[in-house]
Amino acid sequence: MPKVEWSERLSVGVDLIDEQHKVLIKRLDDFAEAVHNHHGPREITRTLGFLMDYTDIHFSTEERHMTAGAYPALDAHRTKHEEFKGALARLGEDFEEEGATQGLAESINTLLINWLVAHIQNVDVQFGVFLKEQGITLDAEG
Ligand SMILES: [Fe+2]
Repeated sequence: MPKVEWSERLSVGVDLIDEQHKVLIKRLDDFAEAVHNHHGPREITRTLGFLMDYTDIHFSTEERHMTAGAYPALDAHRTKHEEFKGALARLGEDFEEEGATQGLAESINTLLINWLVAHIQNVDVQFGVFLKEQGITLDAEG
């Protein structure tokens, strides 16, 4: 199973967001691992629940700071977040219907891991640049 770990190449140059990305990646990885290793349904559901909860927390943090900073690309960025949440919800439905299939494990790897890494590198990075240009610093509480 391809393992995703946070590294400097995923840094958006903002500590608060980088720290949240580390947690998000860890939770995604925990979920992917639970499916890949055929953990019990309760365990898989639990890891997916943690992932969904943290996704909401993290996206809300980003969007709150985008709103506060009058970030011009907020709407487009929010749409991306909704896409990701939709993909997570669909994975949850697939799991409920079919269990921890090979197909589910592959969907998590390809869709979510690729999506998240690409999103951080291509989309979140732009927000980091914007914050820097505006001279906005985010405090650790989010
Ligand atoms: Fe984002």
